[in-house]
Amino acid sequence: MTKHNFTAGPCILDQSVVQGAADALLNFENTGLSLISISHRDKRLVAVMDEAIALTKELLNLDEDYEVLFLQGGASMQFLMTAYNLMKVDGQAAYMNTGTWSKKAIKEAKAFGEVHVFASSEEDGYNHIPDMSSLPSGMDYVHCTSNNTIVGTEMTTFPATDDVLVCDMSSDIFSRPMDFNQFDLIYAGAQKNLGPAGTTLVAVRKSILGKTGRSIPSMLDYLVHADKESMFNTPPVFAIYTSLLTLRWIKSEGGLEAMASRANARASMLYAEIDRNPLFLGTARKDSRSLMNACFLLADESKGAAFEQLAADAGIIGIKGHRSVGGYRASMYNALQLDSVKALVAVMQKLEQQA
Ligand SMILES: Cc1ncc(COP(=O)(O)O)c(C=O)c1O
Repeated sequence: MTKHNFTAGPCILDQSVVQGAADALLNFENTGLSLISISHRDKRLVAVMDEAIALTKELLNLDEDYEVLFLQGGASMQFLMTAYNLMKVDGQAAYMNTGTWSKKAIKEAKAFGEVHVFASSEEDGYNHIPDMSSLPSGMDYVHCTSNNTIVGTEMTTFPATDDVLVCDMSSDIFSRPMDFNQFDLIYAGAQKNLGPAGTTLVAVRKSILGKTGRSIPSMLDYLVHADKESMFNTPPVFAIYTSLLTLRWIKSEGGLEAMASRANARASMLYAEIDRNPLFLGTARKDSRSLMNACFLLADESKGAAFEQLAADAGIIGIKGHRSVGGYRASMYNALQLDSVKALVAVMQKLEQQA
């Protein structure tokens, strides 16, 4: 039976990417060796890293002065690395609090300096992207989260600041075109739109680094990784190679414009059903809805078992909401086919007919 994979991450990747990764595990580029048993210094692996960096810059249309890094430690490591590398001694930074992940970033930053939370939707259960009009100036940097994976909200405009702008794009990177040069530092754990867990993409303007007056341990210093082209220590070659396959796939499918038009088609179909079907309630405010993660509740929770059984029978997996909020969440990342959304909508309608 076809599986419709709505998991929030690690999540669906295009089948051609999974197949390519499987092939390389057995026989990497006809070497007769597995990808994971070759030195990362081998020229073929260096070429993988170079192409992954070049394709990232191309797809995001980044200016010359960006360094693209493939690091380890997940986006959670970036919560502290951004602060370590950008917060001056006795410095201050401004953060948006739009969900669990931004709150975790705020917690880490507090270990390095003063944090001003200038916009928050916490009191409303993070159901919308808050107003940004109290954005302070003169900050070492401003931090935001473009897509809030757990509550299903997504930013469409970003803080208009002359200060350094940092964005956690873990769950919507490569899903839509925009001016990525407005950000001075972008980070994203790979395990949604890019590849398997194990590597984290960072794109940073080199000119903002080395200005804090802090001594930074080598593994946490962006400049060290940039100078060594992400090979300061052994990089996670499998995760990076699989990410490269995804980057090639995105390019061959038509780039970020194509990804955005598919995302719009998927999300509008599902949200239309959530809004139409009296059994379901969307949880995010309509003006803040995410194209990647649609969160919803059953109006009558007692129908939960029947809904989940119908979904399972249709091959739908991964629609349980995050354990911190409950309800349901359909994650619709780049590789999800519209047919999967159609299957979910059909299940929602079947439940309505049973009522
Ligand atoms: C927006 C966002 N930021 C950060 C994280 C944490 O990522 P990691 O598990 O790679 O540390 C997640 C995980 O889902 C996320 O969705």
